[in-house]
Amino acid sequence: MIYLKKKFEQLNKNLLNTPFISTTIFQDSKPSPNTMLLDNRINGLISKILKNKEFEGKEGTSILLRTVNNNILLLGLGKRRSFNSDIFRNIAAKTSLTARQLKCKTFVLNHDSEDVSNADVEAIVQGADLGLYDFNIYKSKKKTFHPILMNIIIKNKLTSSLKKSIHDGEIIANAIILSRDISNLPSKDCTPLQLSLRAKKISSTRQIKTSIFNTTKLKKLGFGGLLGVAQGSKQPPCFIIMEYHGGKREEKPVVFVGKTITFDTGGISIKPSTSMDEMKHDKSGGATVMAIIQAAADLKLPLNLIGLMPATENMPGGSAYKPGDVIIFHNKKTAEILNTDAEGRVILADALSYAQKYKPRMIIDFATLTGACIIALGTVASGMLGNDKKLMNMLMKSGERTGEKVWELPLWDEYKKLIVSDIADIKNIGTRGAGTITAAAFLSHFVGNYPWVHLDIAGTAWTQEGTPKKSYRKKGATGVGVLLSIDFLRNL
Ligand code: BES
Ligand code: ZN
Ligand code: ZN
Repeated sequence: MIYLKKKFEQLNKNLLNTPFISTTIFQDSKPSPNTMLLDNRINGLISKILKNKEFEGKEGTSILLRTVNNNILLLGLGKRRSFNSDIFRNIAAKTSLTARQLKCKTFVLNHDSEDVSNADVEAIVQGADLGLYDFNIYKSKKKTFHPILMNIIIKNKLTSSLKKSIHDGEIIANAIILSRDISNLPSKDCTPLQLSLRAKKISSTRQIKTSIFNTTKLKKLGFGGLLGVAQGSKQPPCFIIMEYHGGKREEKPVVFVGKTITFDTGGISIKPSTSMDEMKHDKSGGATVMAIIQAAADLKLPLNLIGLMPATENMPGGSAYKPGDVIIFHNKKTAEILNTDAEGRVILADALSYAQKYKPRMIIDFATLTGACIIALGTVASGMLGNDKKLMNMLMKSGERTGEKVWELPLWDEYKKLIVSDIADIKNIGTRGAGTITAAAFLSHFVGNYPWVHLDIAGTAWTQEGTPKKSYRKKGATGVGVLLSIDFLRNL
C-alpha cells in the first residue's frame, strides 16, 4: 500500500501556498528560518504563541493553527540533546494523520533546522505511512481519503543516499504493515494454510524460497510438539520456511523463528473468555518473521536469512493433547505437558531444533509467549533472554535506536531446575513465579550450542491504549520486532 510520494524541496512560494504545512520546533532553540517565514505569513501568530508559552516545543506536543488560507501544525521535538529518529517517526505520523483529517491531498513537513541522517529520513517516511495504517478490511464503509503527496523539507542536499532512504523507509513500513495485517486478522481468515499461501505469494515476486511442510512431512520429521498442539484443531498445522540468500554462498545464515499460533484458546487448559478474542494475535511472532524476510529481500541486505514459522491453532477439540501427555520432539527430547495453554514453547521446541540443521550463525526467536512478561515489563519493552551476551547487547542498542526497546531477564541454572519433570526430560510449566524465564529455560533445551536470543513480545505486539504513546501505532497489532531486527541486521 503506497499512500504517499515524497520529494524534497525548498520552501518556495509554491509550497507556502500548500493548504497544510507542519513545522518542527526544538524546545531549546529559536524557531528555524522557514518557521519564521510561516510566522510572517500568519501575522506573527507563531511567535506570539511561543512567547506566551502556549506552545514550548516539548517532545510529543503539537498545536494546529488554522487561518483562512493556512493550516499550520507546530510539532515539538523536545531538547536537541535527547533528539532521536523515533521522534521523527512520531511527528511524521501526526502530520500525515492531520493531513487526512484536513482532507489535504498534498502537504508539507518542514524541518530546516539541522542536517538529518539517513535513519531520520527513513523514520519520517515510516511514520507518515504507518500513521495512516488502518485495519479496515471488514469495514463496509472505508475511509476513502488518502493524502497522496508529502513534501519533506530539510536543509541537506538531496543526495542519492537520502533518496535511497526514502525508498528503504517505505520498504520497512510495508513490512511492518504486513506484520500488523497478519496479527490483526481473525483466525478464521488466517489459518495455517492461508498463512502458508501468503508466504508463497510474497516469495513469488522476490528472491525468497518458501517451502511448506504438511502433516505427513511433519510426522516424518518427528515434530511431536507442533503435531501435539495441532491435534485439537480441525485446521491442519504446517511449518513455513522462508529462505533469503543475499550473502555469500558459504556464509552461515541468521535463523529467525516466530511463534505462529493462529488462535490460542488455551486448549484443554482453556483460557477465561474475557479478552480471549485478542488471542488471534498469538501469531505475531510468525508475522514479524515473515515481515523481516520480506524487508530483507526488498532491501537486498547482503546476508543469508532463514525464517521458520511453526503454524497451528491451539484448540480443545476431541482429540486435543491433554495435561499429563508426554511429547517427543524433533531432537528426541521429551516433555511432560502440565498445561496445554503453555503451547508456544511446545511448537517452538521443534522449530528451534530444526533450525540447527542450518548450522546457523545465530538463532533469534520472536514469540507472544507469556502473560508473565506483561506483568514484568508492561507494554514498554520486550523480554529478552538467551545464551549470548554480545548479541543481546547489540539487540539492546538496536532497541534504543528504533524505539523497540528490549530488556534482559536472567536465565540462570536455578531457573532451569524448575522445569525438570518426574517422568520426562522436562515439563512445560515451572512453579508460580518467573513464568517468562521458565518458558525461555524450556526453549534453551532446543538450541544446542548455537548463539540464541529469545524475545518475548507478549506485551509489545499488541496495544490497547497505545502505551508508550506513539502516533504511528493504533489499537491492535504493532508489528514490533521488524524495525528492531532490520537495524540489528544492518549492524551485523
Ligand atoms: N499466548 C499466551 C501468552 C500471552 C498472553 C500472549 C497474553 C499475549 C497476551 C501463551 O500461550 C500462554 O497462554 N501462556 C501462559 C503460560 C502458563 C500456562 C504457564 C500464560 O502466560 O498464562
Ligand atoms: Zn497459551
Ligand atoms: Zn499462546
